[in-house]
Amino acid sequence: MRCFGTFGPVYPDINYIVSRSEELADYINRVQQGRYVVLFAPRQTGKTTFFRNALDVLEADSDLYLPIHLNFEGYVDTDADTFYPSLCREICSHITDTLQKRKKNPSDELLHFMENARVINSVSMREFFENLGALLQNQRFTIIIDEFDGIPSDALRGFLHTLRQIYLSNIRIKCPYSVGIVGVKNIIQLNYDRSISPFNIQDEFKLFNFTLAQVDELYSQYTEETGQILIPDVINAIHKQTAGQPFLVNRFGQILTDELEIPKSETIQMHHFNKAHKQILKERNTNISHLITNIRRDPRFEKLLMRITFYEGRRRFNLDDEIISELATYGIIKEDELGMCQIHNPIYLQRILQLLQPSIKGHKEQQSHFK
Ligand SMILES: Nc1ncnc2c1ncn2[C@@H]1O[C@H](COP(=O)(O)OP(=O)(O)OP(=O)(O)O)[C@@H](O)[C@H]1O
Ligand SMILES: [Mg+2]
Repeated sequence: MRCFGTFGPVYPDINYIVSRSEELADYINRVQQGRYVVLFAPRQTGKTTFFRNALDVLEADSDLYLPIHLNFEGYVDTDADTFYPSLCREICSHITDTLQKRKKNPSDELLHFMENARVINSVSMREFFENLGALLQNQRFTIIIDEFDGIPSDALRGFLHTLRQIYLSNIRIKCPYSVGIVGVKNIIQLNYDRSISPFNIQDEFKLFNFTLAQVDELYSQYTEETGQILIPDVINAIHKQTAGQPFLVNRFGQILTDELEIPKSETIQMHHFNKAHKQILKERNTNISHLITNIRRDPRFEKLLMRITFYEGRRRFNLDDEIISELATYGIIKEDELGMCQIHNPIYLQRILQLLQPSIKGHKEQQSHFK
């Protein structure tokens, strides 16, 4: 029997999973067109799961695509001198792995090239890709880079510059043919000059939270496998309380279908939901820990959140405002229908109220003291 997953990416053979088929088709379409795509989304929104699925689709098309998945998380405390040679080794080893999965051997030329390849900076990276492209011929070499924010700051500019040169070159099949970069910080926070980037603003890819239909898709898989029914009110309430935040949607699933030990013969009702809800409002799970850590990053975050939550102080959702932009990047606030700042979901709102309660009390006491 599968289960709801909350620990990192989810896999269809062990977890219930939202297929995100429309988003997937959109992304694959961009790859087919050889686009360079960026996706920056808050933690635990399903970025890694999504791109793993995209790789599976591309891997299945072995005549056309040679896809690899890189992760820059490990480079976070390194510099360009460490980054480039290691990147080169990683790319070569991923190519070998992908070919092995396809039960294909690299040609002698490709093998020789990979054994002798040396990349030490952005210039040699460009040569590396040019030579690799010539050897791969018509295969479309596609790279997805997870945790892109980990790139050493002294490598960022040269890396993007080189990709831009390749992107703008008039080679018929560029190498890499398509690049997807995935991270948490947004473009502004990565602090690079847009004019050197190959990633167009219109090619920013959005991964939205789950819709009500997607939450239903997820829980229907559970019902199909176990026979246990959740009444529609419960599904609606899960969607409403989480605003479709993927981790929280699954966390409800874990509590309702496992931790509360409700017999499988019983229908899951609103009183069960209320119990699960209570638990989520008090437990420290990884998603809530991220929320609290992010709020504590900067005293100005608390100030703005206090205004939004306690003082009815409506603030226009203006992404040119650095604080608003950062809180939106972390998935803490979003824009409401009237263009104002709103806490992302009711669970975050409750947790923020609990977190800021002592500050607000202190603030009020201070005010009365000075009266
Ligand atoms: N397609 C999906 N179907 C069901 N649940 C999902 C799906 N994608 C993500 N989730 C939920 O979100 C959680 C995080 O998924 P994933 O690790 O893919 O996200 P991420 O955005 O890469 O996270 P991080 O920012 O921590 O790297 C999963 O453990 C699961 O609870
Ligand atoms: Mg991830």
